[in-house]
This record gives sequence, structure tokens and C-alpha cells, in this order.
Amino acid sequence: MNKQSVIVDQQSSLSNDCKLLNNSIELEQRYGAINYDPLPMVLSHGLGAELWDTSGKRYIDMMSAYSAVSHGHSHPRLVNALMQQAPRLAICSRAFYSDRLGVFLKRACDLTQMDKALPMNTGVEAVETAIKAARKWAYTVKKVVDDQAEIIVCRGNFHGRTTTVVGMSSKPQYQFGFGPFAPGFKTIEYGDANALSAAITSNTAAFLVEPIQGERGIVVPPKGYLQAVEKICRENNVLLILDEIQTGLGRTGKFLACEHENVKPDALILGKALGGGLLPVSLFLSRRDVMNVFTPGDHGSTFGGNALAATVALEALNVLFDENLIQRSAEFGDYLYRGLSEISSPLIKEVRGKGLFIGVELDLRYAKGRDVVLQLLAQGLLSYETHDTVIRLAPPLVISKEQLDEALTILKKVLLTNSA
Ligand SMILES: Cc1ncc(COP(=O)(O)O)c(C=O)c1O
Repeated sequence: MNKQSVIVDQQSSLSNDCKLLNNSIELEQRYGAINYDPLPMVLSHGLGAELWDTSGKRYIDMMSAYSAVSHGHSHPRLVNALMQQAPRLAICSRAFYSDRLGVFLKRACDLTQMDKALPMNTGVEAVETAIKAARKWAYTVKKVVDDQAEIIVCRGNFHGRTTTVVGMSSKPQYQFGFGPFAPGFKTIEYGDANALSAAITSNTAAFLVEPIQGERGIVVPPKGYLQAVEKICRENNVLLILDEIQTGLGRTGKFLACEHENVKPDALILGKALGGGLLPVSLFLSRRDVMNVFTPGDHGSTFGGNALAATVALEALNVLFDENLIQRSAEFGDYLYRGLSEISSPLIKEVRGKGLFIGVELDLRYAKGRDVVLQLLAQGLLSYETHDTVIRLAPPLVISKEQLDEALTILKKVLLTNSA
């Protein structure tokens, strides 16, 4: 059965249960925690850069599940890898070796020029792994006094949602009601290399930073920032850890965003698109001396590095190169950026980003982010607002020129309507 007939088949059996479908929103709201604020429609299937809701309405996906779907929805090679591997071996735990994990780790290390990698599932787990590695490295290699290690982070950061990680957030809502938080973090301004120099002490283990602050609203630091912080970290024996969970794997038009400045971090965190839009797969990668602080029992995850995830992630890495998705992100990103910059509307305060990772900052006197997003939705374009002021545009990297043009036409129409 081909994909289309599977979908039609699924739809007809679903339409037999129309009541349930119509009630999807009600059911989620009644039985689920209200920890998200989704747009009011119910998606049923997707392919490439397009999604369909249960009424059959088609949308261009300019969100990619917060950049997790860079390869597009249901990429045939990735679905095939998943389907070939699932009946062979899916989960066997790290209590045993599998014939899938090593090849995936080698490919990831080769591509990132890192020595070793530790697999986890979600992005925040890989961030937690980075924190543990940096602290243990500080005590065992750098010889920081026990329990005094500090990690420097930036204002406006987003590294995930665990209690330790929201503890280093500067957004009050992420922290309110969830304290007390772990000590050992120091916050400095993003984009200010001098602030890093000033904050480093003999107890500093690492500087953890995003090459572009995604969740803050696609905030791009000044040119030369990453190079400057790399130099400062080197001079002070401080680990430079880049969180490329969102910016990595082609999203900004390079394989890693740090390549824009020829920066080589000491450690790297990847996630989101690593799972090919099918599974949660993340990695903490680093220099040998950093990873070697872990001994058996120090850290782990039941599902981390499972054979199915390793297979899909390896294929996801290969597809990025085989289909020139990184180059595509650079070229189409420039095209989208130029198209948006040409829209002359007082509603647009700024267009910023790199590759297919673009934010449109709005002047709230004309419209709020959610209003704009709802109008785009009505026109068949899916995006989402960040902090009410920024519309994020990060389509799957497989998006076609025609789909991008269609998206630009819709964006132009909506952004001009709201500036009257
Ligand atoms: C830069 C960055 N780090 C970490 C995370 C957390 O990833 P996850 O939601 O998979 O835990 C995100 C998610 O948006 C992110 O953008």
C-alpha cells in the first residue's frame, strides 16, 4: 500500500469515528495538562513541507516542530530506515552493545570533528549531560575545589525545561513556582564577549551558549562574538559548550552554526532534527578528555542510543548531505530573508536570522504575534509566535521554491493587511 492510500484508509476509518475527531481539541484539553497553547485546528497528516488538518485543509509548514522536522514530514528514506530496523532490533538498552550505535556515533563524531558522543533522547537530557560532564571535568581535570564549579550562561537562553535547566533561565515564567533551583550558574548578557571575560573565575568550568538564541526570538549575536568567546575560553581553560540543538544540522545554512565563524567548541549539543522528524534523538559530543570523565554508572538513559534511534539518526545525517539540504537552507534562507525584507510594512520592526531560521519582529502597535499567526493559519501557513512579538519562520529544509513563494505571498498579504 502506498502512502496516499494508507492516508485515505486511515481517514475513512477515522471519519467513522467523527465524533472523536471533532472532539480532539476538547479531549486534549480535558485529559491533558494545559501546558501548551496550540492553534485551533487538528492535524492529521503531513508530507515534506506540507501538513493537512482533519477537514482536509492543506498548510505550508513554516514551523517544522521547532526545527525538529528539518527533513520534512515522513521523509521516505527515514521512514524506510525506521521500518527496516523496527522489526530487527529496536531497544536493547545500553547493558548490551548493538550493531547500530557505534556506526551512528562514528558518523556524528566525524561530521562534528568531536572525539566522542553520548546519546540521549530529548534536547534537555543532552544539556543535562553537558552540565554533568563540565562539572566533573572541572573537579577531576581542572582541579576546581569540590562543589564550587560554575557554569556561565546567557540572559535570554533557552536550553530546555528540567528543574536544573529552568533554574538558569532568565524568563520569570519558566521559573515561577518551580524552585528551589540548583546553584552553580552565573548569567551574563548575550552577545557581549567582555561580560564573559569579567565573569570567569578560577572555578569556571564552562560557558554554555546558543550560536543564535532561538526561543528568545531568533536573536543573532554581533559578528565575531563566537570567535571572541572561543578565544576567551581557550585562554582561561574554560570549556566552550555550544547548544546547537536548534541551530545545528543545516538549519542556519551551515552544518553547524559555529561554522559561520570557523569556531570549534570543546563540546556540542545536538537534538531535534537529529531524529529525522520521527524520533527523539540527542547527542552530547566533546573532546576525549571531557567525555572520559564518565565511568560506568555515572550517567545514562534507558532509551538513549537505542538501535532504532541510532539507525534513523544515522540516516538523517546522511540525507542532509545526499540531498544538499544544508546548501538549500543557505540559498532558500537568503531568498526568504530578501523576500521578507522587501515587504514594506510598519508592522515589521526587524527581519533577522540565518539560513532557514528567520524571525520577524513585530511592532505591537499594529498587531500581536498571535493575531498574525492566526491570520496566517487561515491562509494556509503554519507558524508560531515567540514572546508575542516575533513570528518564527523555520520551514523544513526540503521546502520547494514554489512552496516558499506561496508562503511569501501569504506572509506579504497578512503583514500588509495589519499595517493599515
Ligand atoms: C537551543 C535549545 N536547547 C534545548 C532545547 C530543549 O530541547 P527539548 O525540547 O528536546 O528538550 C531546545 C528546544 O527548543 C532548544 O531550542
